[in-house]
Amino acid sequence: MRTIGSVLICVLLLLRVGLVQSPPDALQPVATMKQLMLDVIYPASNDIILAVSRGGPNDEKEWAQVRRSAMTLAESANLLIMRNRNPSWIADARMLTEVGTAAYKAAESKDATALGAVTEQLDRSCTTCHQQFRPTVFPPR
Ligand code: HEC
Repeated sequence: MRTIGSVLICVLLLLRVGLVQSPPDALQPVATMKQLMLDVIYPASNDIILAVSRGGPNDEKEWAQVRRSAMTLAESANLLIMRNRNPSWIADARMLTEVGTAAYKAAESKDATALGAVTEQLDRSCTTCHQQFRPTVFPPR
């Protein structure tokens, strides 16, 4: 009986150690928020806005670039949400998913009118979050 008891305690201790260690599939953010903005999100949104403002996308290559950037934006929202679980932050980040998905669909069907229509929404998705979460740029009134 004592042996069974000791084995049980050992098992429980091992389980506890397992719980304290971070799970092997834990998320490991690499970029800072600033790097995410400057090296992932800003270039992707810029690609789309520039292509539209130049009257494009004009060829296969430009459409492919816009398509990739649209997917980058849509998925980058998940990177933002992974770093901050504040409900308003999540709602703001989801605006990026929506606009990125809409831009992706437009690029897939090479619909320049639909793509042009999302640029305002794209701009709004950035500003909405910045107004709330970048007090250095948008001081609280
Ligand atoms: C969910 C919130 C959120 C969304 C959405 C968002 N941003 Fe940001 N952005 C931030 C925060 C927070 C900072 C400040 C980061 C810092 O300085 O640490 C920032 C900073 C920036 C910066 C400045 C980086 C620097 O310090 O030089 C740029 C450029 C930028 N964002 C571009 C964009 C663009 C373009 C979009 C839309 C396509 C966008 N962001 C969408 C939260 C967001």
